[in-house]
Amino acid sequence: MKIDILTLFPNMFDGFLNESIIKRARENNKVEINIHNFRDYSLEPHKKVDDYGFGGGAGMVLMPQPIFDAVDALREVDTKVILMTPQGVPYQQKQAYSLAKLKHIIIICGHYEGFDERIRSIVDLEISIGDYVLTGGEIPSMVIVDSVVRLLSGVIEEESHLNDSFSNNLLDYPVYTKPVDFRGMKVPEVLLSGHHANINKWRLEQSIKKTQERRPDLLEKR
Ligand code: ADE
Repeated sequence: MKIDILTLFPNMFDGFLNESIIKRARENNKVEINIHNFRDYSLEPHKKVDDYGFGGGAGMVLMPQPIFDAVDALREVDTKVILMTPQGVPYQQKQAYSLAKLKHIIIICGHYEGFDERIRSIVDLEISIGDYVLTGGEIPSMVIVDSVVRLLSGVIEEESHLNDSFSNNLLDYPVYTKPVDFRGMKVPEVLLSGHHANINKWRLEQSIKKTQERRPDLLEKR
């Protein structure tokens, strides 16, 4: 899979791309991620990318030209163009699964007060990561990339994400490691029993219980 990200703040991605699972996935060619400063595509003097909004109002508005030209330059046959915006479709695990099947995505990170409405005409999908407003689309785009890359074949053990919270509309069951007794808090007996059928039954019960307590809305979707 190939992911091209358009941003005005490429340095924000340094740590994200060069640590942990994303770093390993890139090194093992499971994913190619390129960061582009769309300022480089500006045809304005001083590579300007924004201007005052027509009709007045606070803040600057991203102009369409640099983003249109960047998308034209990067687009391939099977490309999906995604715009990060609080006005987009709320992001969920099932969307991560469908994005993970794509060959190529371009993610546009908005910034400042907003972007010229005409940019929407080249976008296939608008995504919001939640009902709050961030300073730009960079962190939201990292959320999308992280959630998609971990689903790509060979990036993490498949079993880890089959049991993920949300993949079956259940929250994860509790897990424990050493020691068996920590400050009087003991690991449940069943997990020490070696009896796999009982362990699986206990885990399912715990998942259902946790979901009932914390996210009853998920159970209704099952
Ligand atoms: N840009 C700013 N806030 C955002 C959000 N909540 N989701 C996606 N993009 C954003």
